[in-house]
Amino acid sequence: MESTPSHNFLKLLLFLSILHSFPPKSSATSTPLFPTGALPTKSGYLTVNSTTGSAIFYAFYEAQKPSSSLSQTPLLIWLQGGPGCSSLIGNFYELGPWRVSSPKQNVEQLALEPNSGSWNRLFGLLFLDNPIGTGFSIAASDEEIPRDQYGVAKHLFTAITSFVALDPSFKSRPIYFTGESYAGKYVPAIGYYILKKNTQLPASRQVNLAGVAIGNGLTDPLIQVATHAVNAYFSGLINDKQKSQMEELQNEAVALTKKGNWSEATNAKKQSLEFAAKHDRTGHFGHCDLRDGVVSTEAWMKKMKWEGIEKFMEAERKVWNVNGELAGYVQKWGSLSHAVVLGAGHLVPTDQAVSSQAMIEDWVLESGIFTNENIHNLSKNFQGFDCLLTSFSFPLRLLPISFRHLMFIK
Ligand SMILES: *[C@@H]1O[C@H](CO)[C@@H](O)[C@H](O)[C@H]1NC(C)=O
Ligand SMILES: *[C@@H]1O[C@H](CO)[C@@H](O)[C@H](O)[C@H]1NC(C)=O
Ligand SMILES: *[C@@H]1O[C@H](CO)[C@@H](O)[C@H](O)[C@H]1NC(C)=O
Repeated sequence: MESTPSHNFLKLLLFLSILHSFPPKSSATSTPLFPTGALPTKSGYLTVNSTTGSAIFYAFYEAQKPSSSLSQTPLLIWLQGGPGCSSLIGNFYELGPWRVSSPKQNVEQLALEPNSGSWNRLFGLLFLDNPIGTGFSIAASDEEIPRDQYGVAKHLFTAITSFVALDPSFKSRPIYFTGESYAGKYVPAIGYYILKKNTQLPASRQVNLAGVAIGNGLTDPLIQVATHAVNAYFSGLINDKQKSQMEELQNEAVALTKKGNWSEATNAKKQSLEFAAKHDRTGHFGHCDLRDGVVSTEAWMKKMKWEGIEKFMEAERKVWNVNGELAGYVQKWGSLSHAVVLGAGHLVPTDQAVSSQAMIEDWVLESGIFTNENIHNLSKNFQGFDCLLTSFSFPLRLLPISFRHLMFIK
């Protein structure tokens, strides 16, 4: 989410915690406040440190209509951004089977309604409150909360290994790590960690990683922060002079980041975004994700150390339809896909539930627009985290989900 959770999120969490502490007594006549389908198939804690008891909270929803036997049904793992937002926001506000709705924005009338774009239609869906200290997860001490990507990945690896051990049928299921916003850091980190770790483990203890997907991620801040001004400029939000002012603020954020002055860098970034937001009377900067959207995503993708990147950049961005309607655009070469989702802001599944479901299902199943056309050979020797794309022979795929704004269409 990468910003302070909005009031709605706070209300939502409050609502959820009330439900959590006072399960409603359902009478025969009234509809239960918490329908069975909204309850996880399994939930609980995955210990990451047996000495201290620190543990990651999980909520797992089995596939509603799996198209294969459960032992072959893919498992999606969702990591919320923030840093520090609970993945239950993803569950109840974005892609879970039931979503909280507040008709007339009235917090007294919050209700759960089935999500027509749920990501657990065909696949198992696991929400993790990551890192420890987030949401319902337990950090035995502040010192144990990971401070870097390696620390986050180490805990996630322990958690996922324990999760897979909960049920013998989980072992063979292909695993996809997905996430949004600040999870643009966590997702590559755990992907890379698994690829490295698997080489040191016997096959029976390896994690069956099949792909990673990042939605509107903050993955390479130095490159991405530098796109804000041109993005706002070409969207018509600011003029040439304001673009220069915004660029100054951006440059400051980049310089402070390079110095490792994190809190000041965050402030500078905030100022640059607020500058654009101030000139945005349409709400597009906030709602349509001009910060971690298409331009920002493509900027860092271009710089990836991956031998297929030139071919990818040359590939066509194809028109993508869902149910006969334009849903966006997809560019794909080899194991890398980039989907641009029309009419969505930072939280793509919230805004475009059905398109987001079609996207994740077709991407995992390699069907529809995500059918693999080019058989490719990619070498196994890569440097840096990008080797997570191709280091193994199974198809490991990266999917930055982005947005394309509809500003000029009435
Ligand atoms: C568990 O936490 C303790 C105390 O912070 C730490 O010393 C130890 O390395 C941790 N163990 C693992 C496996 O992370
Ligand atoms: C961070 O940057 C600010 C503003 O330039 C400066 O005042 C402060 O001393 C810096 N802090 C560190 C730890 O470098
Ligand atoms: C794939 O690899 C084979 C054997 O290494 C090579 O002969 C072939 O030209 C490669 N194909 C492409 C498209 O690079």
